[in-house]
Formats: sequence, structure tokens, C-alpha cells
Amino acid sequence: MKLLVINGPNINFLGIREPDIYGANTYNQLLDYIREVCSKEEIEVSFFQSNHEGEIVDAIQDAYYKRYDGIVINPAAYTHTSVAILDALKAVGIPTVEVHLSDIYSRDLFRHVSYVSLVAEKTIYGKGFEGYKEAVLYLKDKLR
Ligand code: DQA
Repeated sequence: MKLLVINGPNINFLGIREPDIYGANTYNQLLDYIREVCSKEEIEVSFFQSNHEGEIVDAIQDAYYKRYDGIVINPAAYTHTSVAILDALKAVGIPTVEVHLSDIYSRDLFRHVSYVSLVAEKTIYGKGFEGYKEAVLYLKDKLR
């Protein structure tokens, strides 16, 4: 089973950006955490992070050709704006779980809207790094 974990803009700045909201751990620590979960579960995992919308669309299309079984995505700010990312996920038809580190529903009103949630099978928010683990386990269970 092959999963692709996609993170959007500013997620590479974890540990630096607004630690009161996103915590003190870094992006590399996030990757180590997910790698450990996946190795225990015998899942092959790859990572992609970009600050650019079109590159995220390209990565989603690439996942189709590389035959990924599932996608875990934190589209970050593009969650609330990107029809292009929504359409790409619809186009490839790969089971997707949306993750947010923070509780987007207790923050600014504009964060309450998620285009990606229209295609995601599940949206996990407000659980920090744990949310990614939950997403991986959900996909493993579903794809078994
Ligand atoms: C986020 C929430 C978004 O509203 C924000 O723009 C982010 C991160 C989260 O993980 O909580 O960059 O997706």
C-alpha cells in the first residue's frame, strides 16, 4: 500500500510559524512522525510539500500515474481558496483524507470553508501531528 502525504504553503515553517497555534515541532519532525507510523503499519509513504498551488495540482496528477492508493493532504491556506486542488483530487479519484493541525472551525470565519472537504472522505482537524496518524490508519483500514 502506497500513500502520498501532501502539505501546502507554510507547513515547511512548522516550529517557526505561530507556535501557539501550530506547536513547536518542525516539519522534519512531522515527517519522522508519519514515517514511523507508516513503517509500523507496513505502508510505503512519500512526501510532498509546496508553497505553490500549481505544484500541488501537479503532485496530485503525478499520484495518478504513480498509482498511489491514498492521499493525505493538508492544503493549508489553499484549503479555503483552491478549486484547482479540489478538481485535481476529483480528477484522479484517489481516496483522500484532509488534515489540519489546528481546529479550523474555531478560528477565523474564512477558515470554516474547505473546498477540499467536498472530495475528502474524511476531514481531521485540531489534533496536531496525531491527525496525520489518524488519516493514515483510516486509509489503511479502508483500503484493506
Ligand atoms: C492549516 C489551517 C489553515 O487555515 C492554515 O492556512 C494553514 C494550516 C492547519 O493545518 O491547521 O496554513 O491547514
